[in-house]
Amino acid sequence: MMLGKTPPPPVTPDNSNIQGLVIRGYTHPFSCHLMFSFKPNGITLNTKGFFSDLYPKVQSAVDWGNNKPVSMLNIGITFYGLQILGVAQKSQSTFPDEFQQGPWSVASQQSLGDFNDSAPSNWWYNNFQNADLHCVVHAYALTDTALTDIISLITTSAKSNGLTEVFPLKSGDGRLYQSIIDNNPAKIHFGYTDGISEPALGTPANMASRNQADLDNFVIGYPDYSIIDPAPSGNVSTNPEAKFAFDGFYNAFRILYQDVAGFNNFLLAQATNPTNVAKLSYLGLNQDELVEWFAAKLVGRWRNGSPLILSPDAPDPATAQSEDFGYATAGVKSPNQDVPSSFKCPFSAHTRVANPRDQTLTPGEGNLGPVRIVRRGISYGVELEGNTDDGVDRGLIGLFLCGSIAQQFEKLYGWMNYNNFSPKPNFSVKNPPQDALLGNRPTSPNLNNYPGVVTTFTIPIQNPATPTQPDSIVISGLPEFIKTRGTAYCLMPSLKALNYLATGVMA
Ligand code: HEM
Repeated sequence: MMLGKTPPPPVTPDNSNIQGLVIRGYTHPFSCHLMFSFKPNGITLNTKGFFSDLYPKVQSAVDWGNNKPVSMLNIGITFYGLQILGVAQKSQSTFPDEFQQGPWSVASQQSLGDFNDSAPSNWWYNNFQNADLHCVVHAYALTDTALTDIISLITTSAKSNGLTEVFPLKSGDGRLYQSIIDNNPAKIHFGYTDGISEPALGTPANMASRNQADLDNFVIGYPDYSIIDPAPSGNVSTNPEAKFAFDGFYNAFRILYQDVAGFNNFLLAQATNPTNVAKLSYLGLNQDELVEWFAAKLVGRWRNGSPLILSPDAPDPATAQSEDFGYATAGVKSPNQDVPSSFKCPFSAHTRVANPRDQTLTPGEGNLGPVRIVRRGISYGVELEGNTDDGVDRGLIGLFLCGSIAQQFEKLYGWMNYNNFSPKPNFSVKNPPQDALLGNRPTSPNLNNYPGVVTTFTIPIQNPATPTQPDSIVISGLPEFIKTRGTAYCLMPSLKALNYLATGVMA
């Protein structure tokens, strides 16, 4: 980052060289995420053949205008995959440590904290070893038939070029297909609208809306405005790894099982708990409305998307897509300036943890400001009707895009598992809680990862009839609503780099 200097004019990356996923969400109604190992499948491995078959379908960030592709794909490659391809060094690689070591490493697990069922040793239903996952292909289509066709192109090529497809799920054919919830691609299991708040990377059709610092924090090779300096960057003429990575970005690909029955039953239990009902009687809500109230407090947005800060009492269609709000109280300059807003949105609500916005950050934790990531998540598994678990696997196919897995994705996960990013005494919270929705709840003996952490969720409330007597709903022993099924750290290389893998020639 340029500190104390006048920054140079922004360098605009060539959209035709960037895989499009980082710049825009695709909104195709059909997608499938296919995973491959370069471990030979019995015939000679020919990765060039595989990448040259797929290359014509790779979607860049160029504006498609009115011609939305009927089908298209993007490609990510793990560090082990890059080593097999001869791109990453076997020793002294300049790729970042967390990418080299993988998400199951001790260092990454310090932030991700996948315990018990979520432990890396249980990932992918033990269908394959974490280190044997080398390539993830994300296929998108406008129709079911077009999806079948592109899956066939990918899998036929993989098979004939000696790659082994690996299957992350135990149900269906084991692949990760997108599921549409409530006939709305923006809805995810648990019933919330997702994909609202994103960093300002511009859209292909409107680059003026781009924030250069945001872009430079995501795409590798643009250090002028970047705070986190995505790596490997630097001299592309002397470092082949930096040359390959230029115009690429990282994808923390994370499959998260959602316990929908457990979640629905939890909300119902809270909405019928006599102490809660008595304390909240001033709101005049019926049982269904109380369920929605608790659902909103866990996330910081109502299920329609309205942020609690803008619409504290009820969801409002007018604010459903709003991003323009903060948590600090305007004009109040005191260490407690963020506190009044917690009567609307609790300190540990998912969106408040995932992006504390203008909230005061703990010195050291918040030197870089709130961490940002691009999310391209979609649901997998059929929707659950009712509150009884049917044993079906369902959850989120999470694509968390960033320029630095450690400084963005893992940093944020650390905050979610251990809410130490803001001075918590201000919020009358004695021990660090966890993200109310996401935390991987630790049980002894794992507690030493998060000293003093509690699984208590505190919801401050203020009855307008007794404004001098603030109160709170305290829920102890928050259940684990989400379990990690697997994680892969991938580089999403530029189109030139993918073309190199297809041809052996770097343009
Ligand atoms: C199954 C797991 C998850 C569910 C159900 C979930 C749900 C949601 C919902 C409903 C929103 C509000 C809609 C929006 O702002 O787009 C949201 C926002 C967000 N989530 Fe998640 N999420 C999950 C996992 C994660 C993970 C793993 C991360 C980070 C690594 C994350 C980071 C964020 C961020 C950064 C925001 C935007 C916050 C803001 O800018 O206000 N989420 N999530």
